[in-house]
Amino acid sequence: MGIEEITPEALDAAEFVAEQVEAIKEAVGDQIAISALSGGVDSSVVTMLGHKALGEQLKSYFIQNGLMREDEPEQVVGWFADLGVEVEIVDAQGKFFAALKGITDPEEKREKGITQVFYRDVFAELVRQSGARVLLQGTNYTDGEETAAGVKRQHNVFEQIGIDPEEAFGYKVLEPIVQLRKPAVRAVARALGLPKEISERPPFPGPALCARVIGEVTPERVATVRKATRIVEEELKHSGAFQYMAILHDDMVTGIRNGERDFGQQIEVRCWESTDAVSGTPTNLPFEKLTRLAERITTEVPGVVSVTYNITPKPPSCIEAV
Ligand code: XMP
Repeated sequence: MGIEEITPEALDAAEFVAEQVEAIKEAVGDQIAISALSGGVDSSVVTMLGHKALGEQLKSYFIQNGLMREDEPEQVVGWFADLGVEVEIVDAQGKFFAALKGITDPEEKREKGITQVFYRDVFAELVRQSGARVLLQGTNYTDGEETAAGVKRQHNVFEQIGIDPEEAFGYKVLEPIVQLRKPAVRAVARALGLPKEISERPPFPGPALCARVIGEVTPERVATVRKATRIVEEELKHSGAFQYMAILHDDMVTGIRNGERDFGQQIEVRCWESTDAVSGTPTNLPFEKLTRLAERITTEVPGVVSVTYNITPKPPSCIEAV
């Protein structure tokens, strides 16, 4: 695909920062650039590189797509305010839910419900409003590789699959960390002085909780998976695992509550051991932890009567469900 990986062993993080700052300065010149910050380590590193390179010429936005976790926008804006970077929250929930309405096919959800809304609608509008010509984004080496291989359409990959963003959306996309996988991105985050909450943050997909709702993505169904996500993250944050998540299934099952039939929803819990998300194995969690998760989810999340744990490695499973 023409892009060469820089492995963690080959990476000199300080040198990488200096080179990328220069490259961004040169590419943007005296124009305005915007950064799409989600608070994950990838987009955080890119935002800090952009901030170092461009200062006031960079406008950073957090897109509230309605698919984020509890309190996520405020938390991310707070972290960056402490770093001296102003981030504006853009409320685009209505646009995403309108586009996702009625879609159940996973690739269609990613393409029509997420990619098109982000790039053709939300970023294009921000670019117009701010007069920016360049979008900085945190596409990493694994995103490009899996999309190019046809495994999964990552929401943020264009050039590797033959799409020219300037032609398709009217602005240029810069991808400063496209040669790095996650461990190398984390090393750059540390070199940039980002706090541990960011540099060591478990990965979270660009399509956010949309990747964790099987079937139609509605505000109600996202609210359900969001509540289960909070419980799973609280319970597993000290597990040392690479990534952990709750997934809402589409099929309902018969349960029993207070002696009566309760036909309800199912949540699947996944917890992964991995270094780079290319392959992974399920964490061997204590059975007591699993039963505690089941108890909390079925009592604290309305409508859920069943909790399962995924015991399949990647491959053949993927990390996310959609
Ligand atoms: P999969 O599900 O493909 O996930 O095994 C591999 C890693 O990538 C994350 N992921 C995404 N990240 N945009 C992203 O930025 C996406 O569309 C996307 N899909 C999956 C996933 O959380 C895991 O860490």
